[in-house]
Amino acid sequence: MNDIAIPMGTVTFHDHQPEALSLLDTVVEGLSRQPRAIPPKFFYDARGSELFERICAQPEYYPPTVESRLLTDIADEVASLTGTGRVLIEPGAGSATKVRLLLDALRPSAFVPMDISFEFLKQSAIALAAEYPWLPVHATCIDFTHSMPIPDEAPDGPRLVFFPGSSLGNFTPEEAADFLRMSHDTLGHGGMLLIGVDTKKPAHILNAAYNDAAGVTAEFNRNLLHRMRRELDTDIDPDAFDHHAFYNADQGRIEMHLVSRKAQRVRVDGHGFELAAGESLHTENSYKYAPQEFIAMAASAGFAPVRHWLADDDLFGVYLLATA
Ligand code: AVI
Repeated sequence: MNDIAIPMGTVTFHDHQPEALSLLDTVVEGLSRQPRAIPPKFFYDARGSELFERICAQPEYYPPTVESRLLTDIADEVASLTGTGRVLIEPGAGSATKVRLLLDALRPSAFVPMDISFEFLKQSAIALAAEYPWLPVHATCIDFTHSMPIPDEAPDGPRLVFFPGSSLGNFTPEEAADFLRMSHDTLGHGGMLLIGVDTKKPAHILNAAYNDAAGVTAEFNRNLLHRMRRELDTDIDPDAFDHHAFYNADQGRIEMHLVSRKAQRVRVDGHGFELAAGESLHTENSYKYAPQEFIAMAASAGFAPVRHWLADDDLFGVYLLATA
């Protein structure tokens, strides 16, 4: 782990290069178990990130539009509850689009975007610093699911973690609770968390959101197989799998799968796997939380609810919580 600070005007970079995540080990392990599963973090290579941006522009995939509208509407009210001058931390900041809706109201003392992709983080931190010259940016390259180190350069003072996009939904409930506990530790006394979480709602809305008519989500799901072909020694054929996404009401989650169209043998780096027709690789869960469910989970991680806002028809929730 190295920690390099490269001052660039008001930007510093902190490179805690994560251990190389092995796609090969994960795929071999994931294809060997029953039911077969590959974790969703492998969706996001350059092509996958591009496809995710396109998903966000699909009319059926409501979360980005609905959450952005809500954040715009509540920015001043959030600022009146948090006060200005906090150190604002965004795990998984990516292109840091949504934080721009809040910056003028929140007037943070510094912004700490965290992302696993150094190049992506670098570009977005530089763009943000150019747009908000008054804002010191301390970009941190880290897998935030393991730790959330705050750079020494960041000012003292109360902290605010911002975690939009219902990214919490891609964790299992146990992982979500771990993330909330870790955020609580990072925030310390007087800290606050502003988090966007997708709500439970009628299945037809959820099913449409993950089965857009343009087929972008299907392409995003299948990109995992294209990525395997690009990066691994494998004969897997992406066209031999169907995208299957559905709301599992018992589990309160959308499940995404890649379903084998036929009985086939797949070779990955010398390992062979026999797939039956109709057998699936489980690629993602996206948990949905009713407001009271989420508030209870956050409470067990030590957070007290301050306020929450629901978008029209309770499509999406944004929650402000405080550490003790
Ligand atoms: C990033 N994450 C919150 C998205 C979701 O809705 O679970 C990923 C996604 N998968 C398919 N569409 C969007």
